[in-house]
Amino acid sequence: MNKRGPASVEFRSVTKRYGAVTAVDDVSFTIEPGTLVTLLGPSGCGKTTTLRLIAGLEMATSGTIAIGGHDVTNLSASERDVSMVFQSYALFPHMSVIENVAYGPTVQGLPKRQARELALEKLELVGLQGLENRSPSELSGGQQQRVAVARALVLEPQVLLFDEPLSNLDAKLRRRVRDDIRELQQNLNLTVAYVTHDQEEALAVSDRIIVMSNARIAQTGTPRELYEEPASLFVADFIGDANLVDAELLEERGDRALARFGQLELELPRRGAVSGSIKLAVRPDAVMIHRTRPARAAIEARIAKAAYLGKHIEYTVASRMGDLFVIDRAERQPVSPGTEVWLSFAERDVTIIPA
Ligand SMILES: Nc1ncnc2c1ncn2[C@@H]1O[C@H](COP(=O)(O)OP(=O)(O)OP(=O)(O)O)[C@@H](O)[C@H]1O
Ligand SMILES: [Mg+2]
Repeated sequence: MNKRGPASVEFRSVTKRYGAVTAVDDVSFTIEPGTLVTLLGPSGCGKTTTLRLIAGLEMATSGTIAIGGHDVTNLSASERDVSMVFQSYALFPHMSVIENVAYGPTVQGLPKRQARELALEKLELVGLQGLENRSPSELSGGQQQRVAVARALVLEPQVLLFDEPLSNLDAKLRRRVRDDIRELQQNLNLTVAYVTHDQEEALAVSDRIIVMSNARIAQTGTPRELYEEPASLFVADFIGDANLVDAELLEERGDRALARFGQLELELPRRGAVSGSIKLAVRPDAVMIHRTRPARAAIEARIAKAAYLGKHIEYTVASRMGDLFVIDRAERQPVSPGTEVWLSFAERDVTIIPA
């Protein structure tokens, strides 16, 4: 869409300090042109600060930032070809929808009629045709969100930034708008940096995810890489709600390893671990609950909590490995708390965490 096309974003050893607080600590990454990369992490880990550094709304304390291969480290926000969609949408309440969207191009010097045409085109793109003369207060949360997207798109930026764009929406709308943003990004071949603290949202929309923890990058990868090959306990826990379990690596078998946990033995990808104590990430889906002792190897346990959620049942199960969080998608009838059960494990969803 942009005359220059989508641009890459590159951070090289970027640090941002606010007095004694280091909000971003020696962070390096590249966002390839035309991809959607998510910054994912818990509250306070530095996601918004990273976005604001890309936008030029904050200046780096040290390190360099490049957009489209050009060093923009010392350029102000208005000198960078970047737009941001804020969590609060930040629409002008006294302007109509179309005035909100046409505002940016008008300020940039485009004649009013052309700015309105451009704005209408973008409103159509986000599915808001016919609503252009309403005021923001006459729109639903999801519609306001789309106005904010149209307002960012109309500037045809080389990079588009989203800061928790779905946090004001209910669960159903969140999924729809999330899919819309992803579709728009792919159809228009946009470079997008997207911030969320919701791991499911990140897995759903991203080409790549940058997981942040305490102002640093914990791991970068595709959704699948992060889910299937977490590099640390933090990432295993944050993405996919893994149970973290103590285990012992009994025998190294090339790139496989024999591991023992809770009296069970499993052969798993070794992932560089060596004989001795290890940690395993056990996905909630990996655990199968049996009401009677199964033929396959299993351990004894007791149902502590059960929650029926329609499509699946969530359990907390007390075992000698500690409490395990388990999701059962097969059964319809929950097992009552207090029931003695047996647990077996699907190797596919049990992962050794590298030391
Ligand atoms: N203007 C500021 N002055 C001082 N400290 C700040 C400022 N902005 C952010 N911080 C601090 O920097 C750290 C990172 O903040 P940031 O807003 O980037 O986190 P975040 O990952 O976006 O969190 P959230 O998910 O809660 O939005 C926090 O400890 C925060 O208190
Ligand atoms: Mg934030």
